[in-house]
Amino acid sequence: MRDFDEHNITQAVIERFAGTPDARLKRIMTSLVSHLHDFIRDVEPSFAEWEAAIGFLTRTGQICDDKRQEFILLSDTLGASMLVDAINHRLPEGATETTVLGPFFVQNAPKFENGADVSAGLPGELLFVEARIAAADGTPLAGAVVDVWQSDDDGFYDVQRADLSHAALRGQFRADGEGRIFFRTIQPAAYPIPYDGPVGDMLKATNRHPWRPAHVHFMISAPGYETLVTHVFAAGDEYLDSDAVFGVKNSLIREFTHEAPGRLPDGTETSAPWRHLTYDFGLKPLAERQAA
Ligand SMILES: [Fe+2]
Repeated sequence: MRDFDEHNITQAVIERFAGTPDARLKRIMTSLVSHLHDFIRDVEPSFAEWEAAIGFLTRTGQICDDKRQEFILLSDTLGASMLVDAINHRLPEGATETTVLGPFFVQNAPKFENGADVSAGLPGELLFVEARIAAADGTPLAGAVVDVWQSDDDGFYDVQRADLSHAALRGQFRADGEGRIFFRTIQPAAYPIPYDGPVGDMLKATNRHPWRPAHVHFMISAPGYETLVTHVFAAGDEYLDSDAVFGVKNSLIREFTHEAPGRLPDGTETSAPWRHLTYDFGLKPLAERQAA
């Protein structure tokens, strides 16, 4: 077939994928072509706009490295990450809601014992975190592996700070026999997602702000359960209703309470005021997914 025009090219491209052996891939490519062509027919881009789009995607790829993931940022700011998350996490009663992984997770974070201080000496208001890890039915999950990571007092992650050569405000804990972890850190700050790249250009051009409300990230895994990727957000933050990546859920907001100087939950003493965060996490059994 030849002489493709704006009316027959979509079907012709779809038919070109007819021989795709993998049925799922065939379905994905068919839908991609169909929606992409509909999008083009809808906006009728000029050639200059097509070139601008190619340039934008090229810059998005070129700015990525092992510490910067602009494509995840693009997915996040378009709401695509939260949509994928929502589709994949239809949760049973008692299971903690999920939210975006975000671009600042790092594999192989330092391992810590309960009670450790993950702040690596960075300044800030002491925050004592206590969490309990259980199955959705309430059964404690001893030995669950819990990764935590967060921003500093100025809203930066360690990987964004050129002055830091070591990990800070991130670490991996293992839940004790009652499914508990507890650690010291500092109060995280709200922060803008990196906006010095193409995603930032998009936000500026569309009059959107880049801010995320203050939060602590958690990734929790235990054998037989779906790995939980979520955050706990600080109640009262001014950006809870306009998170740049659409990640906030009411069930994930907690008071980071103000406490007077004195005894911390682990029995140690502090002479300064401190903040206290507690959260009980519920993990979804793997079997639930197969049954769904
Ligand atoms: Fe974050």
